Amino acid sequence: MADQFSKVYDKTMQPLEKVKISQLRLELTEKAVGHVLEIGSGTGANFPFYRNALKVDAIEPDLQMSKQSTAKIKKARIPIEVHTAKAEHLPFDENVFDTVVATLVFCTIPDPHKALQEIQRVAKPGASILFLEHVRMPQGLMGKVQDLMTPLWKKAFAGCHLNRDTLASIHNSELSVTKIDSHYKGFLLAIDCINEKQNMDLL
Ligand SMILES: C[S@@+](CC[C@H](N)C(=O)[O-])C[C@H]1O[C@@H](n2cnc3c(N)ncnc32)[C@H](O)[C@@H]1O
Repeated sequence: MADQFSKVYDKTMQPLEKVKISQLRLELTEKAVGHVLEIGSGTGANFPFYRNALKVDAIEPDLQMSKQSTAKIKKARIPIEVHTAKAEHLPFDENVFDTVVATLVFCTIPDPHKALQEIQRVAKPGASILFLEHVRMPQGLMGKVQDLMTPLWKKAFAGCHLNRDTLASIHNSELSVTKIDSHYKGFLLAIDCINEKQNMDLL
């Protein structure tokens, strides 16, 4: 199923990318500076947009997905390296990254709490953590429809939870939310955070 998903992902996303997602990817990646970590980079849909970063280390557990990103890495303006890893176990030391980017990925990560802890660990104190995520909608009826659709949706879209409350997970983490932009009546959220952890070297 995951193999099929990687093959159709770019085509499935094409209509959405045309409408708005590409613009949101551009706005988000413009804010990605310094040494960047991208979580669950998939087919590399963000790679063409990075322009202000020095270097991007991306992690992606699905080899079929990362294979699809090879051409985009070659064309990118900045050096990009994809590592085979999961967000819950990041293969990096503490305090390495200036920016962490996660787009349309927290819906699929099996343990979002652990993934947020790992992001906090590898990001520098004060680093920007930038999310673009589809979430459970705040309106009662729409949220319930998403709840009903999720079991089938998960099977069709490689484990994607249509009703994830990623904003609540972020609020429950040690990250500090600085800005939320809501799109499509709250279905899609652009969430900017700061890694508030203390710099132990300065204590
Ligand atoms: C819907 S795709 C999004 C890909 C890309 N971020 C984008 O914006 O197009 C979700 C991605 O999350 C990846 N993924 C699934 N489980 C993961 C995990 N535990 N850690 C990191 N990425 C994961 C999937 O392999 C897939 O590439």
